[in-house]
Amino acid sequence: MDTRHNWPVDPDWIFSTHGLVNGMAMCVDSFTQPGDGVILMTPVYHAFFRVLKASNRDIREFPLANVSGRYELDFKRWETLLTGREKMLVLCSPHNPGGRVWSPSDLQQVAEFCVRHDLILVSDEIHHDLIFPGQTHTAIPALEADISDRLVMMTAITKTFNIAGAHTGNVIIPDPKLRAKFGVRMAALGISPNSFGLFMATAAYSPEGAEWVDALMRYLDGNKALFDAAIAKINGVNSMPLEATYLAWVDFANTGMTRQEFTTRVEKEARIAVNHGHTFGTGGESFLRFNLATQRSRVEEACNRLTSAFSDLQ
Ligand SMILES: Cc1ncc(COP(=O)(O)O)c(C=O)c1O
Repeated sequence: MDTRHNWPVDPDWIFSTHGLVNGMAMCVDSFTQPGDGVILMTPVYHAFFRVLKASNRDIREFPLANVSGRYELDFKRWETLLTGREKMLVLCSPHNPGGRVWSPSDLQQVAEFCVRHDLILVSDEIHHDLIFPGQTHTAIPALEADISDRLVMMTAITKTFNIAGAHTGNVIIPDPKLRAKFGVRMAALGISPNSFGLFMATAAYSPEGAEWVDALMRYLDGNKALFDAAIAKINGVNSMPLEATYLAWVDFANTGMTRQEFTTRVEKEARIAVNHGHTFGTGGESFLRFNLATQRSRVEEACNRLTSAFSDLQ
């Protein structure tokens, strides 16, 4: 974290959870009560909804603005959506889906929003190492704004190294009071680190791991270019420019097709398994999410199939 993201972490601040869906659930459990509002900037990673629904929290969907095919934070609108019952905001940084790397100024404004409305800020930075060449991720705790008394930052090796089965994540809590609360809930629920996950994390966060990630991002950059070029040839279909993540977020709104129509073409004609945009909340309805973290030849094959499934739009 210090080397790549310029944030020195005290090892005592780190809890090892069983992944970050578990980490986020633990934050919800530790810092909010049933009925409290939890803000999600939608569309956003779908598992957050599952956790909040199951724990009877009020899911407050604060939509991102889609400005010329790129997500922007929309504070002006969000100020009007607040009910006063919100206790927590979950930030996804870099953002999944849409692949935005939030700028220091974006993050500063998120921090100020949380201070202004007395919100705990849970920053899910699981995609923080999957940054495309030319982009820089800012770890939110490295900002000058002092929000450490309301901040939880989460990271993991599992997206970066494709080992989500290791079920391990880092929940990093600089503030001693928040840390004590979280620690009590971890103990109450009997959650202890997964030893295999810790060995995998140690192996991943090594000079060899760093070299591998750099090579990975160059490779994924090639996959992305190939995919974007194929999508650009299909009229009315737009892939958001990814700054991070390997998850292409593709908008079919301008094809004029219904959700069922474009999904059927992709799944049944092109035979590509995708994530459905509507499961990511408000704003995701016209999108499908494609995973580009695979062999180049597979991306090529997928592009060929898409090209022929949408041949009438070229
Ligand atoms: C933003 C975000 N958080 C969490 C997760 C899942 O984390 P885990 O497998 O550690 O539960 C994902 C997986 O896609 C994700 O995109």
